[in-house]
Amino acid sequence: MSLATIGRRSLLHSQKNVLAPLVAPFHTTTMAQLATPAPDPVQKQPLIKTFNIYRWSPDKPAEKPRLEKYQIDLNQCGPMVLDALIKIKNEIDPTLTFRRSCREGICGSCSMNINGGNTLACLSRIDRNPSSDVKIYPLPHTYVVKDLVPDLTQIYKQYKSIEPYMKQKTAAPERENIQSIADRKKLDGLYECILCFCCSTSCPSYWWNSDKYLGPAVLMQAYRWMIDSRDHFGVERREALQDPFSVYRCHTIMNCARTCPKGLNPGLAIAEIKKQMALDG
Ligand code: SF4
Ligand code: SF4
Ligand code: FES
Repeated sequence: MSLATIGRRSLLHSQKNVLAPLVAPFHTTTMAQLATPAPDPVQKQPLIKTFNIYRWSPDKPAEKPRLEKYQIDLNQCGPMVLDALIKIKNEIDPTLTFRRSCREGICGSCSMNINGGNTLACLSRIDRNPSSDVKIYPLPHTYVVKDLVPDLTQIYKQYKSIEPYMKQKTAAPERENIQSIADRKKLDGLYECILCFCCSTSCPSYWWNSDKYLGPAVLMQAYRWMIDSRDHFGVERREALQDPFSVYRCHTIMNCARTCPKGLNPGLAIAEIKKQMALDG
């Protein structure tokens, strides 16, 4: 594969929100105190860490992708890789491009490949040993929109194809759809998925057949709806997957479960789908 091709296809603190008190005690704070932050009693020595970050821009398509080096003082930075990326963008290079939103492992936007593993930048603590660099790439085997931003068009098309919403054959109930505690429990380990796609982009079967194999993230959501007691289309949902590629390209390699930053197990969900499909006959 040429490097030019690689340009379009990538190689490969949670700090709790502390709610402010309803009545802020500002009457005890003078304007001078507000303007001057209290001096740090212990002035720390700089702790310089190097970040090697994948760069490629569609504005310069003839330029090969490259790794760019950035050095930052960890004593002036938050503890997570996303903090470092934001610091680099704010203070060193505003052209560095990446997705992020919630900064606490909820939105799934900051997924990327950090030191060889797919994960969320906002949940990855920076190793404070300055002798090793941090290497950051976009999610593997995705087309790259720019720098660390993967193109997720295909994966969202596949997500749409499984109709990820409740479908019923009976008239809508007058009030809510009741579900027993036991049935609700069946959704545990599935509903927590934040669609970061770390799993699908770590799956070798998905790398080679992403046009036809749905991949672990989408299949886990398909299973989430198959086993929801309020949904009436389990059989049809499974029928729609009856072909050699949609599900059966999963070879239980389990990279998906190993990499999921939420600790979920899409491989297991896929095995359950296969079991149910076999029982359907
Ligand atoms: S278990 Fe299936 S979905 Fe998960 S990585 Fe392996 S082949 Fe991919
Ligand atoms: S199963 Fe895990 S890795 Fe896969 S999309 Fe959901 S949260 Fe991300
Ligand atoms: S910024 Fe939302 S999951 Fe990382």
